[in-house]
Amino acid sequence: MMKNILVLLLCAALSASFCACTEIGVENSNETESAEQSSSVVDSTVSSADTETSEDSNESSNVIIDDSSAPDVTIDNSSTVDVKYTTTDDYSYAVTLSTEELDAINAGSGREFMILVNKENKLSDDYVPQNLVDVRNTRKDRAPGKMVETAEIALYAFLKEAAYYGYGDVTVTSAYRSISYQHSLFYNKYVPQEMAKGLDRESAIAAASKYSAFPGTSEHHTGLCVDMHNLSAASQTFGSTPAAKWLASNAHRFGFILRFPQGKDDITGYMWEPWHFRFVGVHYATEIYESGLCFEEYLAADNEAEVG
Ligand code: DAL
Ligand code: ZN
Repeated sequence: MMKNILVLLLCAALSASFCACTEIGVENSNETESAEQSSSVVDSTVSSADTETSEDSNESSNVIIDDSSAPDVTIDNSSTVDVKYTTTDDYSYAVTLSTEELDAINAGSGREFMILVNKENKLSDDYVPQNLVDVRNTRKDRAPGKMVETAEIALYAFLKEAAYYGYGDVTVTSAYRSISYQHSLFYNKYVPQEMAKGLDRESAIAAASKYSAFPGTSEHHTGLCVDMHNLSAASQTFGSTPAAKWLASNAHRFGFILRFPQGKDDITGYMWEPWHFRFVGVHYATEIYESGLCFEEYLAADNEAEVG
């Protein structure tokens, strides 16, 4: 009981601190000035580099929030983190998975993939993940995205199962992004897009930061996540589709979490992204999924459980 109360208090404090953090992130326009100086060319298409797929548009103006059709994720803020060990042995899969695929999904039980990157946890400017490989499920009209090898193998298995259930048209539109690429995406694409709607620069940065990360703070720098969907461009309308609901309900069985769930904007710092999946390994993905907590909340609760 006491533990539950502590966790509730912690979640409330965390929620408040992330609200504040969003504002700090938005006001951090020092980066903006240096960005402007270094990026005189406004390239609205943001051409893709060899190791990057271009992010498709996820403009906030396209956002349609329909609570009745949200992914089937139970939100229970009173959840505490159960201590258990979950492996692929606990699941059955419709498709045949190779030993390599099962090993990849089972990886990470030592927290190897539990790195937290968000508005408060910025990576160093020279951060580049190891073992990046081509993402086989990249959308065909794009240069192959890159991803950390273990995560890519697990993703391949995930989408193999998705195809079995009729969602073979879900493909990866964005994977690893370098910090310089994110810089271009944020300042040369999204901020100008918001300004074109009539916002001043500061307001445009604030608007863009609700769906796109400042350079150095994007989870895409880790090579552990992808954007994937079956639309021409990422949109919250995807969240209402059977494909998105299946992905959200099954990601944990393959070691992935829906990183920016609906209704957690104040904590994650970002709006609902039904297309953004993050690899952590099946053990932690299952715990996070079953807890109903977002990644930030889970880490806080997990830390509290360890301290307590
Ligand atoms: N769209 C996510 C938040 C990113 O830019 O990393
Ligand atoms: Zn993403």
